[in-house]
Amino acid sequence: MVPPDFAPPLLMLRLLCCCATLLTFASSVSAGTSNSLMDLSQDGRLLACSNRDSGTVSIVDLQSGELLREVPVGRHPEGVCFLGATHQLVVAAYADDVVVVLNADTGEIGKRIDVDDEPYGVVASTDGSKVFVTLEFPGKVAELDVAAGKVSQEWSVGTFPRGIALNTDGLLYITEYLSGALKQFEPASGKVLNADESGTHVTEHWAGTPEDSLARQVALHPVSGKAYVPHQRSRVTVAHGAGSIFPYVTAINTQPDFDVEKKRRRRIQMDSFRGTYVVANPWEVALSPTGDRLYVVFSGTDDMFICDVLDDNYRELEYAGGLRLGANPRAVRVSADGSRFYVYNALDFTVVGYDAASLQQVLSTTVTSWPGTAEELLGKKLFYTANAPMTRQRWISCSSCHPDGDADGRTWQQPEGLRNTQAMLGLKHTHPIHWSADRDEVQDFEITIRSPLMQGRGLIKGKVNDGLGAPNAGLSAELDALAAYTNSHGFLQSPFAKQGLSESAQRGKELFFSATTKCAECHSGTYFTDLKMHDVGTAATDPTEKFGPEFDTPTLLSVYRSAPYLHHGQAATLEEVLTTHNPDDRHGVTSHLSPQQIADVVEYMKALPLEDMP
Ligand code: HEC
Ligand code: HEC
Repeated sequence: MVPPDFAPPLLMLRLLCCCATLLTFASSVSAGTSNSLMDLSQDGRLLACSNRDSGTVSIVDLQSGELLREVPVGRHPEGVCFLGATHQLVVAAYADDVVVVLNADTGEIGKRIDVDDEPYGVVASTDGSKVFVTLEFPGKVAELDVAAGKVSQEWSVGTFPRGIALNTDGLLYITEYLSGALKQFEPASGKVLNADESGTHVTEHWAGTPEDSLARQVALHPVSGKAYVPHQRSRVTVAHGAGSIFPYVTAINTQPDFDVEKKRRRRIQMDSFRGTYVVANPWEVALSPTGDRLYVVFSGTDDMFICDVLDDNYRELEYAGGLRLGANPRAVRVSADGSRFYVYNALDFTVVGYDAASLQQVLSTTVTSWPGTAEELLGKKLFYTANAPMTRQRWISCSSCHPDGDADGRTWQQPEGLRNTQAMLGLKHTHPIHWSADRDEVQDFEITIRSPLMQGRGLIKGKVNDGLGAPNAGLSAELDALAAYTNSHGFLQSPFAKQGLSESAQRGKELFFSATTKCAECHSGTYFTDLKMHDVGTAATDPTEKFGPEFDTPTLLSVYRSAPYLHHGQAATLEEVLTTHNPDDRHGVTSHLSPQQIADVVEYMKALPLEDMP
């Protein structure tokens, strides 16, 4: 279906070299635990993985390789971890705002712990007494009292936190998904050593560059305490240039006494790591128990690098070997004795175990099945892969900018002007496509696949029709599948609607639908769009704009999480859309509104959609 560009397995490990001798760590500080979509029980008997599409957790017996059970836990489960030495499991059901505690031996669900919103990463202390979870949209970390089945404390830690790791000194390390920043937080004291600008509870902060993005996980070195963050780099200014998306692992020296003259945050570019062999979309990393090896899985190119850890504050990692994996690998974990590692292939639904010395496969278990149609599965695989025929260079996939149907929070310089990435949510109902409505069906993304951006061979044999010309639908079963998957995303209820509309949002609703503001003249109907083009005076601030001044009215559903705003991404907040970016009342009438009324309209928009729209 999606033939890999690259066939031979990379069994080039220098296996006999005892890499521990390369290490020069001062002292043992902080073995710890890190978030993952997969976990191993401390006794080495069980493996648990969360299946995002099926809404289940699967338990595998590591001795026999048998799937013991698959337990429904809720929509879009993400992080999973065992509690201490027990077979009790904690799972974050991201779309249901609940953390589920279950018994892996029986499959019985114990507590369902309601959390604020969007639980993603989960970690437990090695003795299982402390459990922390990142809450993505509200930007918090919550501590759970598992026995009582409730949240015991929570703290604001930044925007879109996903990755989380806990060291043996009780310090938490948290990654921001869209900025790639790493933050340190001390939950025991709630102490703020260095409150960052937003006044959040953060004791240390290692910002990335503005190009760093999509950091879902962080793993801690068991000896040096260094943090390793797999992430992407998005060079938004060269979308049609030599390269725009790059895979990285960043090593961050977290020691307070570290010589600050030396760089504390060091990016290792993974697509020039092994000669010219390109990999894409790193999802997770794992360290061996001694800390001499680091494993990283690339979900776009379906492969893994095995690296020697150098701890030289300079090169950090050295290529030691590689493996071809299954479709869309998203998780990797190493056994407690380091002799095996396990990989979770999210789109062929397998867990595969390998012998760490020989790299031979020792286990392969199908853990779940695809809940949708065969066509949607094919489409999802195409959306996530950076292999041919989607790209020639294996550097980019649709999901590099539209991960899990969301946007990457970036504004790209396109030949036609600045373009803010849109999410795929509700796409089926909001055609035409693109800010400039220059496409009328998702099959027109054959143009993107063949463009300088992706440089793919494409899915249609022969000529591709124009975005607004004769249909591209029906010309390729694969392209139709890509469209079916891309069109399959619904909306989740806004977190601001969960307690009903606030008084401010009620007032905002009246203003929104009133004849004085005119908002609902264009943002009309179930999806808050008339599906038409209008000049609302927004083109003037981008000198590179070629298509304006008219743009397609965007849906307002889920705008609470899609900053920045407008086609050019120049409005940082919803307030700015209605104020600084609407000086002449060309975009609705807002100049007569008081600051409170503007805030009310914003409150209303943030509450959309009022309920789930599957
Ligand atoms: C380099 C980042 C990047 C990649 C890779 C990418 N996109 Fe996009 N996508 C964008 C940006 C930026 C926009 C907004 C562009 C515009 O409106 O002109 C967008 C818009 C879209 C939209 C329009 C959504 C709407 O509401 O109108 C769809 C659909 C889409 N992309 C699908 C895809 C598919 C399918 C692929 C893979 C073939 C893909 N994208 C690859 C960045 C990207
Ligand atoms: C004449 C039609 C029209 C009217 C009236 C209108 N809008 Fe819009 N709206 C648009 C268009 C077109 C865009 C896209 C403009 C752009 O991206 O440059 C837009 C964009 C937006 C966005 C940004 C969404 C995003 O995803 O970036 C928000 C928020 C918004 N409008 C809210 C409002 C509010 C609130 C009102 C009433 C005060 C209003 N609009 C009135 C047509 C309209």
